[in-house]
Amino acid sequence: MKVSVLIAAAGKGERAGLGKNKLFALSGGQTYLEKTLDAFRNSGLTDEYVVVCSASDMDYIRALLPRDVVLVEGGDTRTQSVKNALDLVTGDIVLIHDGARPFVSREVIKNCIDGAEKYGGAIAAVPCRDTVCLAEDNDVTSYVGKSGLFQIQTPQAFRTDLIRNAYSLAGNKTFNDDGEVFLEYAGNLRTVKGDKNNIKLTFPEDFEDRIPCAVRTGVGFDCHRLVEGRKLILGGVEIPHDKGLLGHSDADVLAHAVSDAVLSAAAMRDIGYHFPDTDAQYKGADSILLLKRVLEIIGEKGYKVSSVSATIMAEKPKLNKFIPEITANLAAALGISPDQTGIAATTLEGLGFVGREEGICVHATAVLVSDAEF
Ligand code: CTP
Ligand code: MG
Repeated sequence: MKVSVLIAAAGKGERAGLGKNKLFALSGGQTYLEKTLDAFRNSGLTDEYVVVCSASDMDYIRALLPRDVVLVEGGDTRTQSVKNALDLVTGDIVLIHDGARPFVSREVIKNCIDGAEKYGGAIAAVPCRDTVCLAEDNDVTSYVGKSGLFQIQTPQAFRTDLIRNAYSLAGNKTFNDDGEVFLEYAGNLRTVKGDKNNIKLTFPEDFEDRIPCAVRTGVGFDCHRLVEGRKLILGGVEIPHDKGLLGHSDADVLAHAVSDAVLSAAAMRDIGYHFPDTDAQYKGADSILLLKRVLEIIGEKGYKVSSVSATIMAEKPKLNKFIPEITANLAAALGISPDQTGIAATTLEGLGFVGREEGICVHATAVLVSDAEF
């Protein structure tokens, strides 16, 4: 039996007031949409993933999610979004789930699948703890009660043929959720045990508990040949010397190693990937500007640099007296303080190509944090 997951992610998240789709808010360095998808993928109970997204979010979501996830454009209402996506589902059972419920547990997923298999349609639900009333402008008009009342969650799981048929009978009408469509046009809907933690992120306060940042580390390494007739640039600082480093850009080996460490920490490849040396626009390029561009690239994923540490391996010239200036310059480019920028220099005791003054190497590490404000 093949189980498909249909995730509704095509909303605007207006009530959350984050200025963009609430599913893109980060918690622990990961978007809520990724967390929701992972809850299913990691359950080992589901086989196929269809995510419905708005036209404006499509490119961002395509870059965010694994390639095997099928994307489909949503509609103006959740009902319309789900209807569009159902056409692409190929499983025998489909679990329809709000992208805004990232805390769904394996147990709830299993309850829904079992319920759909047994009864055709099953919705996760929890009994109402609190008494429910109707009110208009804070004036209570009547009591509804709590006995026999349930709060409905997702996933809502169905035999795919039944829910697809129900949605086609529903035409263009709008419903609260998929269970309501099923109840109206297919019949026999069951509740299965939901979970009080399976909340739908809706209002600004629902986002207050998110894990403020993830810490990531990266390493970078670079080496350039020392030749006559070139400037020696380290961390954007020109160092007086009778030789300089050879390269397509200004060959700032320190800026390159730090850039690679930063990109690697964000799992976003390396500078050769982003700024190919076959590209004429980078000929003689100021590597500090490339480093600043690297910060923009990782910023798109919500990361910023927290600290950097690097060791320059050079036999000559003696770099000690230049270290404060190199540190200050690099820190300014990284948008951090010199306190967060550890630069060391060492000779290799005459050993190897560095010892023979044929080249200079740099080994760097970077620590990134995800921006809590995304
Ligand atoms: N959704 C959807 N298509 C729509 C509207 C909503 O796929 N046209 C999705 C949302 O992305 C969300 C889920 O349905 O994951 C539940 O909807 P809701 O919590 O109302 O989210 P939003 O519509 O995004 O939020 P708001 O109503 O505050 O704008
Ligand atoms: Mg909505």
